[in-house]
Amino acid sequence: MTKPPKKSGVPGLHSACILGTGSYLPERVVPNAELETMVDTTDHWIVTRTGMRERRIARDDEATSDMAAVAARRAMEDAGVEPEQIGLVLVATCTPDMMIPNTASFVQEKTGTANAACIDIEAACSGFLSALEVGRQFIETGSMEYVLVIGAEKMSSVTDWEDRSTCVLFGDGAGAAVLHAGKGRGIVHTRMAAEGALADLLKIPGGGSRFPTSAETVAQRMHYMKMSGQEVFKHAVSKMCKTAQQVLDECELKIEDIKYIIPHQANARIIKAVGQRLGAAENQVYVNVDKYGNTSAASVILAIDEASKSGVLNEGDDLMIVVFGAGFTWGAMILEWGP
Ligand code: ACO
Repeated sequence: MTKPPKKSGVPGLHSACILGTGSYLPERVVPNAELETMVDTTDHWIVTRTGMRERRIARDDEATSDMAAVAARRAMEDAGVEPEQIGLVLVATCTPDMMIPNTASFVQEKTGTANAACIDIEAACSGFLSALEVGRQFIETGSMEYVLVIGAEKMSSVTDWEDRSTCVLFGDGAGAAVLHAGKGRGIVHTRMAAEGALADLLKIPGGGSRFPTSAETVAQRMHYMKMSGQEVFKHAVSKMCKTAQQVLDECELKIEDIKYIIPHQANARIIKAVGQRLGAAENQVYVNVDKYGNTSAASVILAIDEASKSGVLNEGDDLMIVVFGAGFTWGAMILEWGP
């Protein structure tokens, strides 16, 4: 079990704060109208069922680490931190460049973060929250001064472009944050959970050790994402609401105390249902799924960076991140904005 939250700082522990953020979105915009020409779907269906209008799709020669590296450089610049100062690169992704080595190593090379240890974290759409929580431990204990936490995905590389039930949902992109020991409360409290018994409902079955890539796995399209959409939807709403309420209660906060809820951007209907059940006002819930679709581990940090750059976040604002993804994995985090 996670320990109860620190209310005003635990003696001897630093606060893990976000010092700077950055993001990268591929240039190519794919509107719903383009998907209409590929599969049997309509702009109307996609907008009403998902809230998505367009998404970004990476170039063929652009891998996850390429996008992650641009976002990382922008985050370090925003933070005023030199690449050599980074002690750890954490990359949350379910679309690594390759099975070996990890994507963080490619990012290290591309960003000049030569002194950093490199770790990938795989928790699909929950990945960024998991990575932030892992990074937090190194900062709070004082074992690292600066940790680069990245969420990056090339979802188009695992999308079956002949399956209308999934291909309209995903997009590509990357976001990054520099964590350090700051003066505010920073990450206040986190809950993470999983239910592995439901793993079958969302998976890429082929290409791993269970079904290594073969002519047969490729012929059966097992290297693409498979999803039981309605089941995922149901669990996403109930689990995101429950865990969000839990972190609020454990921090003795009310929903009105939260400036923005930053939910994983899977579907506008999921986001709306979660906001409503938590009693949040519409303008408290950050939504950009219309522009980028579901970018999995990148979605939360893309939203945070967008909100930060648009000037709507003020130092001292409490944010609540809420995520849900394959596994199933889910979680929520309360974070005070500010360096
Ligand atoms: N265009 C037109 N029709 C479609 C499309 C499409 N793109 N896709 C499905 N349909 C049809 C179905 O075939 C079905 O037709 P039928 O009634 O004749 O059988 C009908 O639309 C309804 O399908 P449902 O699956 O019931 O549609 P629903 O309203 O549930 O929406 C959706 C589907 C958007 C996938 C929704 O269930 C959803 O968002 N689920 C959650 C996805 C998610 O959160 N993923 C996050 C995790 S991803 C990760 O971790 C990597």
